[in-house]
Order: sequence, then structure tokens, then C-alpha cells
Amino acid sequence: MKRIAVLTGPTGGLGRAFMNELMHEDLEEIWAVGRNPAKLADLCAAYGPKAVPVRCDLGVEGEVRGLALLLAEQKPDIRFLINNAGVARMGKIEGFSDDELSKTIEINCKTPTLICQYALPYMTRGARILNIASASSFQPNPYIALYSATKAYLRSYSRSMNYELKDRGISCTAVCPGWVDTPMLRRTQNGNKVRFPGMVSPEKVVKKAMRDAKKGRDMSVCSLFVKQEHLWSKLMPQKWSMAIWGRAVKRYVEDQNSLPAK
Ligand SMILES: NC(=O)c1ccc[n+]([C@@H]2O[C@H](COP(=O)([O-])OP(=O)(O)OC[C@H]3O[C@@H](n4cnc5c(N)ncnc54)[C@H](OP(=O)(O)O)[C@@H]3O)[C@@H](O)[C@H]2O)c1
Repeated sequence: MKRIAVLTGPTGGLGRAFMNELMHEDLEEIWAVGRNPAKLADLCAAYGPKAVPVRCDLGVEGEVRGLALLLAEQKPDIRFLINNAGVARMGKIEGFSDDELSKTIEINCKTPTLICQYALPYMTRGARILNIASASSFQPNPYIALYSATKAYLRSYSRSMNYELKDRGISCTAVCPGWVDTPMLRRTQNGNKVRFPGMVSPEKVVKKAMRDAKKGRDMSVCSLFVKQEHLWSKLMPQKWSMAIWGRAVKRYVEDQNSLPAK
């Protein structure tokens, strides 16, 4: 049986950093699951034959089922499953179309849930699932309400999975970064540079996530800054933290109905 890793969103900022880490693992193949054939081809050419492109639009349920069929056909030994792909937009709730609401929930919640389910029959003791949630999952966050709620779902689901899977020796880690320096973040707003307090590199998040996953932890929180945010989210009434967050970002949303989201 081939020892493989399955990684979604390998073409993004955190995805590339996961690719780099996975190259050092004892794996025969890394399945790079993405929607853009040209980007996947470039990526796999850069990493060599260990990187296998798997084309799949994670916002289309039929295509996600294709991944289940591929697993059933190849019956690999999945050592790592990393549900990393995600989408985010900041804006007032009424500015989201039906399609954007559905796609965000699909890509951030439903698809990683299905992929875990498809992968589990091919995972044995010591296998690791990493689901990339966010520090936005710690509390409700106005103006990134949808994104924040999807990441709260993913964090909760992942932690319960970690508990349930202990008997099988499989771990599931919810990775909860704050701001990460990737293309997901919009750098300027009306010509002004946007500040991202506590921003870290994707490499830092990924190295910590891999370490935490190997220890079987149910959550990975990378920096002191985000650990403090996590602590505050437990101690401070959520009405207060929402008010602080809402005041800090409202001006961006009023300027323009879209912004970077963490
Ligand atoms: N950056 C941050 O500050 C931050 C903070 C906390 C959590 N996160 C989470 O970290 C994860 C990675 O984000 P990132 O910052 O690395 O973002 P990114 O650079 O924008 O990468 C996003 C990845 O998701 C893929 N993707 C998006 N929609 C897809 C679809 N329908 N089908 C297949 N692939 C799709 C993208 O593929 P394409 O290349 O084809 O677009 C890309 O590879 C996300 O789950 C995000 O929510 C990010």
C-alpha cells in the first residue's frame, strides 16, 4: 500500500508551506488537491514525482465525491490528511449572494467533513488529520460573520473527531492561526496599508501544526499573540470582544464592502 498525504489548497500560502514540510516525511506520494490545472502542474513540476496533482473543485460536491472514488480505486495508506483550502471575505452580511454563502459553507465546512469521512477507512494508527480552522473560530466576529462561523464549526468538529478517534490511534488537529502572511490577505484598503497585528509566516504556522499533530493535540495555536486571543475569548464576555472587533473593522467595511479576513 502506498503511503500518501492528501493536501487540499496546495497552491496557496499555507498550502505551499505544508508541501515543503510533507516533502520531508516518509511518504511515497503527496496528493495535491486543487481546482486549477495550470497551477497544479506548475506546483507538481517544482516538487517532482512525489507530488501528484489531483484536480478537484472543492466547492462542487460531485467533484469531491470523485476523490472518494480515487481512494476506493487506489486504496492507499493515508498518513496525513490536511484540509487546508478555504475561502474568506469580509463584508456586511446583506452583501453576500446566495451563491457566495453556499460556496463558503461548502468549501470551509461540508467539504472537509466529507473528505475526513472518505479518508478514514484508509487511515491506520499514527495517521494525522489537520483541519485548518482559524483564530476567528474563538468568538463570533461581526463583518466576517460567515467565515468566523464556518471556522467555529470546523474547530468544534475536529476536536470531537480527535476524541472519538483516540481508540484507533488517529489524531485530528484544528489548526487555529491568527493573521498569516499569505495571498488571502488584502494588503491595501483605499490606498492605505492594512495592519495585521501579530501576523506570522506560513512556515511558522505549519511547523507548529505538524508538531502538534504528531503529539495528537486537538488544537494548534501558533504564536503568543494568538494564545492571548484564545485566553481572552474564554475570559471576556463575547459581547465585549465582538464590540471591540466590530469597532476595529467597521471603517473598512463602510469604505468598501469587502476586506481581508483571518
Ligand atoms: N491567511 C490567513 O491570515 C489565515 C488565517 C487563519 C486561517 N487561514 C486559513 O488557512 C487556509 C489556507 O489559507 P491561505 O491563507 O493559504 O489562503 P490562500 O493563499 O488564498 O490559499 C487558499 C487555497 O485554497 C484553494 N481553494 C480555494 N477555493 C477552492 C476550491 N473551490 N477548490 C479547490 N481549492 C480551492 C486555493 O486554490 P487556488 O490557488 O486555485 O485559488 C488555494 O490553494 C484557509 O483555510 C484559511 O481560511 C488563513
